[in-house]
Amino acid sequence: SELKKIIQGIPKAELHLHIEGSFEPELMFEIAKRNKITLAYDSIASLKEAYKFNNLQEFLDLYYIGAQVLIHEQDFYDLTWAYLTKIHSQNVVHVEVFFDPQTHTDRGIAFDVVIKGIYKALEKAKAELNISYQLIMSYLRHLSEEEAFKTLESSLPFKDWIDGVGLDSSEMGNPPSKFTKVFEASANQGYKLVAHAGEEGPVDYIWEALDHLKVVRIDHGNRCLDDDTLVQRLIEQEIPLTLCPLSNVELKVIQKMEEHPVLKMLDKGLLATIHSDDPAYFGGYMNENYYETAKALNLNKEHLMQLAVNAFEASWLNSETKEKHI
Ligand code: ADE
Ligand code: ZN
Repeated sequence: SELKKIIQGIPKAELHLHIEGSFEPELMFEIAKRNKITLAYDSIASLKEAYKFNNLQEFLDLYYIGAQVLIHEQDFYDLTWAYLTKIHSQNVVHVEVFFDPQTHTDRGIAFDVVIKGIYKALEKAKAELNISYQLIMSYLRHLSEEEAFKTLESSLPFKDWIDGVGLDSSEMGNPPSKFTKVFEASANQGYKLVAHAGEEGPVDYIWEALDHLKVVRIDHGNRCLDDDTLVQRLIEQEIPLTLCPLSNVELKVIQKMEEHPVLKMLDKGLLATIHSDDPAYFGGYMNENYYETAKALNLNKEHLMQLAVNAFEASWLNSETKEKHI
């Protein structure tokens, strides 16, 4: 369709993507087989059948199970490379990738095995696909701050490969303020800071991410519209929101795409952007997220261009490179 062609034609930046959430069932079964791991699902179809979620936690439970088949550096490399070739086909030219070290180190996989596989695929994509990238290490918020400190410590030999830290996993009951000290320590190591906030959690969590963690970007942030003072703050300080429309529908953050707040956010002058979050689980990569949102909210070409420009604006590219994309 015309709309699909327009979306395909726009060079895009993806800023909210969990690499473990790009694990397609086909690749999961292939890696499980070579690692001699038996999945609890006997076929790709039965696994896909389980991809029906009532909330974030139901998704996370499955996401952590899927990640258990990743053992060797090659597995992390294959996972990352599959994602990068996919987004290359969708005209994504810049990506800021999250990875969850604790999902793997807690199972006895060494930090270096995880990051080396991911890093080598990212470097190959830079050289061969002309995709620029940043890498963001996320702390799991259902674990303790002490555990996050251990992860920070493990990351230090690879500091040059890591651009920032994030905060993800179960939001309710795990407010950003639980991680104030480790975010401060991460900033002292030179890491940039982001956090998931206001996806399922209340608007207070967005305030905490700003005031306690000092993040430069909010992942999701859907709930900010509950608070006009917060909206003003986000506009004035040009804090970007990395929204994930298909994720929001699949996790019942909204009941249907027509309710997605992104257009309201753009109209208010917020730096709203669109991304895929966990594309293998939520039924679409970047183009599908743009397309479904555009269809449901009647977005025109200018809106779509604005969303793409906002993402470069919100990215961690240097200002000279940003200019080239905008
Ligand atoms: N981990 C992977 N995807 C996530 C999401 N949407 N929210 C919180 N944690 C996540
Ligand atoms: Zn996310």
